[in-house]
Formats: sequence, C-alpha cells, structure tokens
Amino acid sequence: MFRFFSGVFGGDVGIDLGTANIVVYVKGKGVVLSEPSSVAIRKKPKGGMTEVIAVGSDAKAMAGKTPVGVSTISPLQDGVIANFDMTEELIRYCLTRAGGTSGPLSRPRVVISVPAQVTEVERKAVIDATLGAGAREAYVVEEPIAAALGVGLPIQEPRGSMILDIGGGTSEVAVLSLGGIVVTNSLRTAGNDMDSAIVAMLRQRYALLIGETTAEDVKITIGSALPLEKELEMSVKGRDLADGLPKSDVVSSVEVREALEPIVLKIEDMVKVALEQTPPELAKDIVDQGIILSGGVSLLRGLADRLSRALSTPVIVAEEPMNAVARGVGNILENLDDMKRILLSVDKGVK
Ligand SMILES: Nc1ncnc2c1ncn2[C@@H]1O[C@H](COP(=O)(O)OP(=O)(O)OP(=O)(O)O)[C@@H](O)[C@H]1O
Ligand SMILES: [Mg+2]
Repeated sequence: MFRFFSGVFGGDVGIDLGTANIVVYVKGKGVVLSEPSSVAIRKKPKGGMTEVIAVGSDAKAMAGKTPVGVSTISPLQDGVIANFDMTEELIRYCLTRAGGTSGPLSRPRVVISVPAQVTEVERKAVIDATLGAGAREAYVVEEPIAAALGVGLPIQEPRGSMILDIGGGTSEVAVLSLGGIVVTNSLRTAGNDMDSAIVAMLRQRYALLIGETTAEDVKITIGSALPLEKELEMSVKGRDLADGLPKSDVVSSVEVREALEPIVLKIEDMVKVALEQTPPELAKDIVDQGIILSGGVSLLRGLADRLSRALSTPVIVAEEPMNAVARGVGNILENLDDMKRILLSVDKGVK
C-alpha cells in the first residue's frame, strides 16, 4: 500500500549530477531544472557550524564576490563528490524544487548519472548522498550510456556508437554496442580547466587578474578550437597585478584559442586512444554514423570540426548537448523496471 502511494505521489526523478551543472528530469514531464552545481555557505565564527545561504544560480552569482565568512563552493570536482554534505544539500534542493519531496509519501525513486570510470567508493558516495537527500531508492547509471540514450543512439543494437561528452570537470569517450560499454576513456580535464587556462594566459600576457566566472565568460564569448573566419575580441575587466587597481584589456580570440589548445589536444588524444582500442567492426560503424558530441564544451566554436579533421571521422554535436545526459537518465526512468534488467550498470542503492 505504502509503495503504491509513494509511486503515485513520488514521481521518479532523474539527475545529471555534473561538476558544473545539475540537470533534473521528472518522469512524465522531461527536463524541469538546470542549475549550476554551486552552494554558498556561511561559517558561524565560534561554533564552526556551516549554514547554507544559497544554492544553484543564486550561489554561482555570488562566486568571487562573497564577504568574509561566506564562500561559494562546488561540491563536485572532476565529476565526483568532493564535499559530501554539500552534494547532499544540492540534491535535496533539486528534489524539492522538482516537487519530489513535498511530503512523507513522496520520497521519489532517483536515477543519477556518474562518470564511467568512477571507483566503487565514489559511486557509493553518490548513492548515499541521494538517499540522504530524501530519495526512497537510488540507482546510478554511467554517464556515457545516459548521454547515448539521451541523443537517441541505438545502443541496444549490435552496432558501434561513439559518444564524447565534455563537461565542466570531465571529458569522457565511450564506444557502446549491445547496451554496454565496449571501450571507454576519460580525462579529468574539461571546461573548468579551459577557464583556468584563460586566467593564466591573461595573468602572463597582460598582468591582468580575473576570476573563474569572468574566464568562463571569455571562453563562451570568444573561445574557439579552430581559426575563425572573422576573429573576435572583447574587453576583459579585472585587477592589474602590478598596482592592484582595476583595469581592462582587449583580448582576441586568437590568444584565447592558443590558451585552450593544450586542453583540446589532450581531448583529441584521449579519443584517438579510444579509437585505436575499438574493434574494427565497431570502428567502421562509428565512421559511418559519426562521433556524437555532448556536454557544454561541445558548444565551443569549431570544436566539432577540429575533432572531425584530427580524427578523420564525422563529429556531430547533439541537440541541446547540456541536457543529453539528463534526457538519457529520464529515458531510463520512463522504463525503470525494464531498464533495471537490461542495463547491468544500474545498481540498486544500498538502503
Ligand atoms: N557556448 C559554450 N562554449 C564553450 N563552453 C561552454 C559553452 N557553454 C557552456 N560551456 C561550458 O560547458 C561546461 C559545462 O558543461 P556541462 O553542463 O555539460 O558540465 P557538467 O555535466 O556539469 O560537468 P561534468 O560532466 O564534467 O561533471 C562548463 O565548463 C561551461 O563553461
Ligand atoms: Mg556532465
């Protein structure tokens, strides 16, 4: 009886717990929420207690601008939990906003994605945080499988598909066939490292000190992975390293591209290694179908073309690449009872 009611009122929830963004899918509704994976906290001076003052976009807007005692943190680093309690806060916030935990009978079943190469301990931490945040049951699915389902790749068929997901903290590539991962490779380097590379470049070239949020803005506004037909420039404001005063410099897309190049090369090499390890029959399918690119960094100008040239394989950017994993998790959710049997990688949470 209880189970019946909780099923009715609970609404199953799918979560893409990303380093940069947390995206939430509610069964029957689709993607309902996408928020930065940020939490702002205030440390009480004496007792040392921590109080959460903002979560998601409100917290991200505070990054680098907080007064003494307040800080913004990213509880996920490189795709895995770095701060357990704050990850739990983040998930709880999402479940509440998504309407999943509004009453005692409404504890939802949650499917949540994790990078393919996480350790058992890291995977268990995700399950525990999800249960701690109010889920009745928690299941995890490997991100590449979710991303592939999310973009509609025929992963259950005996046909090779390659998906490359480049997010904030991780870049992951996987070859899938017959519902499973045949080859996978990953790097704990992605969009965040691109931001850091821009910070370092501006410091070196212009003695200009900027924060990560500004660097991300530069990356999105003028970043690229191939020369542009018309190169871009923008004025970047920050602090002069020499005298500590505010200043602004005009930065070109050529300089930004140079700064991003080592990271793009690393990603390219990671995919090359995966292609080399792919059995020839599946490699042939991949050349026919193309590599599907998902994750926020797939929106970087020229990246798909650049990878396509370097890998001699078509590269196609997924529709709404930042929601691909969440849509795939949702796909699993819509058929959870069947999927539990089909996908070996879906684990039941230890309650
Ligand atoms: N137009 C754009 N050009 C370049 N980068 C972008 C663009 N839009 C978003 N990004 C970057 O994409 C990254 C976020 O992507 P996404 O939401 O897929 O990551 P995530 O899933 O949270 O991280 P991960 O999968 O690594 O845990 C950020 O680094 C962001 O700056
Ligand atoms: Mg991701």
